[in-house]
Amino acid sequence: MKEIHVGFLGCGNIGCGVWNLLRDAEERFEQTHGVRFAVRKILVRDVKKERAAQIPREVLTTEAGEVLHDPDIGLVVEFMGGEEPAAHYMMEALRQGKSVVTANKMALSLHWEELMREAKNHHAAIYYEASVCGAIPIISTLNDSLQANRIERMYGIVNGTTNYILSSMSQSGVSYADALKEAQRLGFAEPDPTSDVEGYDAAYKLSILASLAFRCHIPVGSVYREGITRVEASDIAFGQEMGYTLKLLALAKQSAEGIQVRVHPTFIPRLHPLASVSGSFNSVFLSGDACDDMMLYGRGAGSAPTSSAVVSDMLAAARFDSPVYPAVDADRANTAILDNWESAFYIRLSAADRPGVLAHVAACLGERGVSIRYMVQRSETPSARVPIVLITHKAMEKDVRAALDAIAPENALVDNVIRVEE
Ligand code: NAP
Ligand code: HSE
Repeated sequence: MKEIHVGFLGCGNIGCGVWNLLRDAEERFEQTHGVRFAVRKILVRDVKKERAAQIPREVLTTEAGEVLHDPDIGLVVEFMGGEEPAAHYMMEALRQGKSVVTANKMALSLHWEELMREAKNHHAAIYYEASVCGAIPIISTLNDSLQANRIERMYGIVNGTTNYILSSMSQSGVSYADALKEAQRLGFAEPDPTSDVEGYDAAYKLSILASLAFRCHIPVGSVYREGITRVEASDIAFGQEMGYTLKLLALAKQSAEGIQVRVHPTFIPRLHPLASVSGSFNSVFLSGDACDDMMLYGRGAGSAPTSSAVVSDMLAAARFDSPVYPAVDADRANTAILDNWESAFYIRLSAADRPGVLAHVAACLGERGVSIRYMVQRSETPSARVPIVLITHKAMEKDVRAALDAIAPENALVDNVIRVEE
């Protein structure tokens, strides 16, 4: 029997889930893996706090050194969250030659290169399946199972909170504010939902996924990011009329021109496999040169699904003697990360209802090579401004932006622009 001495950094939602899963599966792991995990110390902020796990008081500490500098602890599992001090603690654990398992996409994505460097320099392992898409094995799929492929594109629904909100808006026609309130009431959305609804959480996750898929570091700062706060019920309704479903997508594509990495609300065809991913579920659809199209689906958050990934990583750390690091393609180091890309666009305008306005809008678009594929104007009741919705053919992002900037406000105001992926 191999006994692994473990230290936890943090013990909230995920930490307690991991503690409980380790307790429930203790005998099974001994039989199936010949491994027993002994959690020696757990770093928390408040040792007196009530927790969702029966943890002996003497295991808890507020001294990080009791985890990081205990030579007896070989495996450090981090689920304290946030950038610092989590990143600093993980680096210190790696420097001590300890293996690290983390669920923390923020610290991992913001300190990717330093963490990988410390791990390699000290021949220590770092595992991070739980950092993206909870229970879905997307990290090991990219790191191991799809190594034979060149990944050409990847579309992820990687944030459960926003998927829950957009699904509610699509299914019940409720406003963004009401859908958010309901998500908060049900515990899907945080009291401060900024990181989720503004797309930061998805950008951290995309940076990790794209770094693995393209075998070069994709910094979070290079991910184009837009959240869902500008989406109105009418956008979703117009999209549905045209056969589209709205998702917050994390997209990564590579081509001869460079790499695109972006997080933004995106209309996808109603029959696309990702369109049926509803509620708080996550999914990643990708395409490789040999594997062709593939989709992974499952629970992207929550205590038990995330613990599934953390504990599987702990078992991997116990099983493998030699750490394996993400493959890096040195030739890709200078690959351009594009800030202009081709897409179709949904454009919603409030237009003055008088002669010449449509001609003006069409001219602004046409002069920059943007061609209209579909258009609808709603003016059931007479009013000064009417909604006009356009779908363009594929066009370059910067041309569309320039065209919209050229529209005279007395003719039409741009209310929303949403990219469309076919
Ligand atoms: P949480 O419930 O807020 O737990 C955080 C834990 O870390 C708490 O035990 C807290 O101590 C401790 N902690 C925080 N800062 C500390 C500090 N400076 N010093 C000592 N202890 C500190 O968070 P969570 O929901 O478990 O999430 C943890 C991590 O998992 C995050 O990186 C998150 O992104 C990731 N994750 C979460 C989910 C999810 O569904 N929640 C899913 C996937 C990944 P106290 O308990 O004493 O306050
Ligand atoms: N806040 C995240 C989500 C869960 O809503 O998907 C943790 O990754």
